Amino acid sequence: MLVSGKQILMHAHENGYAVGAFNVNNMEAVQAIIEAAEATKSPVIIQASQGGLKYAGVEYIAGMCKIAAEKSSVPVAIHLDHGTDFKQIMLCIRNGFTSVVIDGSQHPLKENIKKTKEIVEMAHAVGVSVEAELGKIGGTEDDISVDEKDAAYTDPDEAVHFVEETKVDSLAIAVGTAHGPYKGEPKLDFNRIKVIKERLNMPIVLHGSSGVPEESIKKAVSFGINKINIDTDIRMTFHKSVKEFVDKNPDVYDPRKIIEPARVAMKEIIAEKMSMFSSAGKAWR
Ligand code: G3H
Ligand code: 13P
Ligand code: ZN
Repeated sequence: MLVSGKQILMHAHENGYAVGAFNVNNMEAVQAIIEAAEATKSPVIIQASQGGLKYAGVEYIAGMCKIAAEKSSVPVAIHLDHGTDFKQIMLCIRNGFTSVVIDGSQHPLKENIKKTKEIVEMAHAVGVSVEAELGKIGGTEDDISVDEKDAAYTDPDEAVHFVEETKVDSLAIAVGTAHGPYKGEPKLDFNRIKVIKERLNMPIVLHGSSGVPEESIKKAVSFGINKINIDTDIRMTFHKSVKEFVDKNPDVYDPRKIIEPARVAMKEIIAEKMSMFSSAGKAWR
């Protein structure tokens, strides 16, 4: 069942859980996500980055995700991850995405507000929901010193002002996670999550969630996170499975035989995440 991002995230916000938003670049990942969502009865967000759309083509990604959503017994939203380009966002909406990000976090606040507002007006006119980003989420390679943390993390007052001005449906916040594999254990600013949630009282989003320990994820959900983005853990699972298969079966050249175990392995790790996020059993019809 294809639904808007807002429908899924408001249900999570009102019922105190987080929906997994999993990145896809190919058919097997789309299928793994849907199979995991159906097995655990979870609402789910399938998302593609601008890089993913460049790799597979927006029509292919949208086509696969729409078929997956329409055939599925659980609520599914199709989401553009880290959109920065007006034209790309328009193209995604035209191709049936039900949710988009306008990531203006690299710009000064005023410009971020202006860019986000533009997208919100256009997207809301056609029933598409919008996530925005405030603060610097960064990559695990970007070491943020203790002094820099306050400047990099999302400021609660700024978040309130930003949401009032832009009318976004959800906000991605910087609270200590980063994209890609972590070198050490990430330390999340749980108090900041709690304060932002209390001040905004709306769906809030955690990026860079691969490799974050289960306990921290559960605590973040209990403090109000409603959407959890996972990419790297799926990529690593895919890579491990394909590598193991090819190492063991160097003469097998049929891509179906090589990739099938990876599809199963991706489904398993995604289903585990769904239970961890408390979205399992929350699907409605
Ligand atoms: O948050 C970023 C996602 O992991 C997407 O990465 O731009 O390499 O597709 P990508
Ligand atoms: P990870 O690759 O660290 O899981 O981050 C995913 C993400 O935030 C996608 O927007
Ligand atoms: Zn991200």
